[in-house]
Amino acid sequence: MTSRRRMVAGNWKLNGNREASVALANSVAKGHNGEVDVLICPGFAHLADVSSAIKGSGLLLGAQNCSAFESGAYTGEVAPGMLVEFACTHVIVGHSERRQLFAESSELVASKAIAVQKAGLCPILCVGETLEERESDQVEAIIGAQLDALLDVGGIEAFHNAVVAYEPVWAIGTGKTASPEQAQDVHAMIRAKIGKLDSACSDKLRILYGGSVKPDNAATLFSQTDIDGGLIGGASLKADDFLAICHATA
Ligand code: 13P
Repeated sequence: MTSRRRMVAGNWKLNGNREASVALANSVAKGHNGEVDVLICPGFAHLADVSSAIKGSGLLLGAQNCSAFESGAYTGEVAPGMLVEFACTHVIVGHSERRQLFAESSELVASKAIAVQKAGLCPILCVGETLEERESDQVEAIIGAQLDALLDVGGIEAFHNAVVAYEPVWAIGTGKTASPEQAQDVHAMIRAKIGKLDSACSDKLRILYGGSVKPDNAATLFSQTDIDGGLIGGASLKADDFLAICHATA
């Protein structure tokens, strides 16, 4: 076991309005006890209000996506540097919904991760396989390729200030959680791959699990050696459930 500090991140996806987001943020801020890093990721439009609401609470703020570009004629994009202004510390890149619904390639995801780091923020790089890929024994190849895309452009240095989130696509929002053993196997594979290049980096690398994490399955998942916390979707929209998951992680 190492001394990796645990992290629980709430990905609020496309939900709520300003008032609901601030209320949720306030409840999480009030209930978290600082034993783990707790990050909340509201939608872009709610970042300003949520940022003000949680100021001084110890909660961390993140975004769910960003542009790979720093500035220029890219209508509709949000640059990582703009997120710094809201006191964001993290940006999720390569969520499977971005990859599948918005056709983001691993190369684009890697360039976003690099842009996030250039702005002084920490990317949370999501990786994961579909059910079909799992059933055809391609888990290692798929996740390996998703990691390689970032290694290709940023080298191992890109993993020095990054978090990886393993989110099997078949477990997201489906109620079908990976078993603790299935998740641990993939986390160990990710750590070993990074470890072959830089063992100190892999020892420090936080690898979160995401996919139907709930208060009743969090503790078993998070007790696995290579699982350093979670990236939570549905259950992060209810303060009590999210806080129960944070407490299960400590
Ligand atoms: P659920 O927790 O709703 O399965 O979502 C996981 C996720 O996509 C977090 O990014």
